[in-house]
Amino acid sequence: MLSNGILQGKRGLIFGALNEHSLAWAVAKQCAAEGASLVLTNTPIALRMGELNTLAKTINAPVIAADATSIDDLNSLLKEAQELLGGKIDFALHAVAMSQNLRRGKRYENLSYNYLLQTLDISAISFHKFLQTAYQMDALSEGASVVALSYIASQRAFWGYNDMADAKALLESIARNFGLIYGKEKKVRINVVSQSPTQTTAGGSISYFTNMFEIAEHTSPLGNATAEDCARMCAMLFSDYTRKITMQTLYHDGGFSATGIQVNSEIPWKQM
Ligand code: NAI
Repeated sequence: MLSNGILQGKRGLIFGALNEHSLAWAVAKQCAAEGASLVLTNTPIALRMGELNTLAKTINAPVIAADATSIDDLNSLLKEAQELLGGKIDFALHAVAMSQNLRRGKRYENLSYNYLLQTLDISAISFHKFLQTAYQMDALSEGASVVALSYIASQRAFWGYNDMADAKALLESIARNFGLIYGKEKKVRINVVSQSPTQTTAGGSISYFTNMFEIAEHTSPLGNATAEDCARMCAMLFSDYTRKITMQTLYHDGGFSATGIQVNSEIPWKQM
């Protein structure tokens, strides 16, 4: 693993590592290799069903159970994480998403509104809740860096991405609006990394994910960014090398977002 100690001495909090395929787990491994001390968190059910407790031991990171939609849980999480890490938090990753509409095959033209509210709460408002709770507790250090993960369906229509597209648009808006306040008051950076399709548990809940992955792979001049690529990008954003980047949605997608129609011999096009 490429590492240069760019997070030496920093304290990090990582939401959303479920298993070895999770983007958050790739980020956790990279940050540990870069010298950071970490606390990992996920829901109680994810800790029972997933692999995080076992994985976390390999990087000596404590795990704290918390539902990212619960203010009480976030309060205890931030208190306990600061105690375990021995100070304020220097960086945090929000890699949390879930849509029951997607999971249960309820299409955008036939949404359950109860599920929609849940999607928005888990996948976007939890980011605001985390930032607001941390703000009120003054839990982030001066110059800290916060990153959330998004997908380009927040900005362009992608067939089948469903209510998660709306959640990602809200997530990116929260990063900008809280970035303004946190930046002025505490020099804290808040950015969103808009990542390529990546084979994970959440990715797999999109019914046509494999096609989406392959089309993106063919379209992107550099190919899709992998989980390991995403981890290096996040480590860079957590580091002191990016102290003036904030309130941005940064496309980390091998060039997909800047590319138009590609007709080349790799894709089996119909005869014209
Ligand atoms: P994942 O399934 O490994 O991670 C999603 C995580 O959200 C899980 O660990 C899950 O337990 C957690 N979570 C769900 N409800 C929660 C709650 N109430 N409180 C706390 N945690 C909760 O999948 P992946 O793909 O690593 O997802 C991480 C982030 O990356 C998500 O925001 C996802 O939308 C985003 N992303 C994923 C892409 C992909 O193709 N896999 C592409 C672009 C962005």
